[in-house]
Amino acid sequence: MGRNSWTLGIESTAHTFSFGLVDSNGIPYPSISDTVRPLEGGIHPREAADHHRDYSSTLFQKILDSQNLQPSDIGAVAYSQGPGLGPCLRIGASVARTISSALGVPLIGVNHCVAHIEIGRQQCDCDDPVLLYVSGGNTQVIAKLQGKYRVLGETLDIGIGNMLDKFARQQGIPFPGGPVIEKLALEFIEQHPGASLEGLDLPYPVRGMDLAFSGILTAAQRLIEKGHSLGSVCWSLQEHAFSACVEVAERALAHSGKSELLLGGGVACNNRIREMCTLMATERDSTSHAPPRMYCIDNGTMIARLGYIELENGRTTSLIASGINQYLRTDDTLVSWS
Ligand code: ATP
Ligand code: FE2
Repeated sequence: MGRNSWTLGIESTAHTFSFGLVDSNGIPYPSISDTVRPLEGGIHPREAADHHRDYSSTLFQKILDSQNLQPSDIGAVAYSQGPGLGPCLRIGASVARTISSALGVPLIGVNHCVAHIEIGRQQCDCDDPVLLYVSGGNTQVIAKLQGKYRVLGETLDIGIGNMLDKFARQQGIPFPGGPVIEKLALEFIEQHPGASLEGLDLPYPVRGMDLAFSGILTAAQRLIEKGHSLGSVCWSLQEHAFSACVEVAERALAHSGKSELLLGGGVACNNRIREMCTLMATERDSTSHAPPRMYCIDNGTMIARLGYIELENGRTTSLIASGINQYLRTDDTLVSWS
């Protein structure tokens, strides 16, 4: 890459289409994004892909304008190769191929989950953390062991964010439901400072080092049907679901001997889960870190950052190998950097 060249990152795994940049030193700059928000129901992969296609030129122009760049300032193009929804990933990959071919610059397909980790490490200046990755589609506790980010525990069914979004949808709250649940839970506990979870019991989602959230979703809906207020159920749902994640993360810290906890993924925007992680880490003489919210949710900048790191380590993606992989796993990617 030329000395002044920037790396462009394209994120398109699901609902969000996002372009981001890192400069020639790998320093991140905010993304330009657009998110599909269906009026009713969940995300339809084909409709999300059409949205991404329609927005591609606008977002590309806007990200260039955000740093006063010309296309010729782009020295490499990174994109999410997986995991995610096939039709959405394919749009991101085609846009990346087009820009990289037109500009004659390297193409680099990266692992979306690993990108969440690496932007967090850069932002929070973490060395070797245990990552609690809590997003819509994913819930994993991860640590780097023997050259890969290993999944030490994960959800056996749906992601924690999908669980929150589904519960919200059942109450008529549109996607994304997580932030609204946070607000309702906070209002409830501020109005009822001594509230107890008695009577608001939900199944505890821990399964050894793994988690499972479909039972808690059904049980929370049942509490609503029994007449409990929405605020009280949102509060109980957060307390149960977040404690379960924090419990698995604590065990991962204990087993791996590491002393930094790093939050990532959209649900890491939530103040309550941040607070619980800090409490747990402090009790074990460890530290807890969370990147700025714009880098917790899906964003092109984290893709640019991981693309930059991989290029610095000599990896590029040839056109023939640039196909997407919907089922790429966190531990499929060799971590050749430190
Ligand atoms: P991945 O592909 O990594 O699974 P994703 O497609 O789910 O990512 P993200 O942007 O990482 O996308 O996460 C979106 C999720 O984060 C949604 O489920 C949303 O409800 C949840 N979320 C966002 N803000 C909050 C919040 N403040 N509290 C709880 N959940 C939140
Ligand atoms: Fe994500």
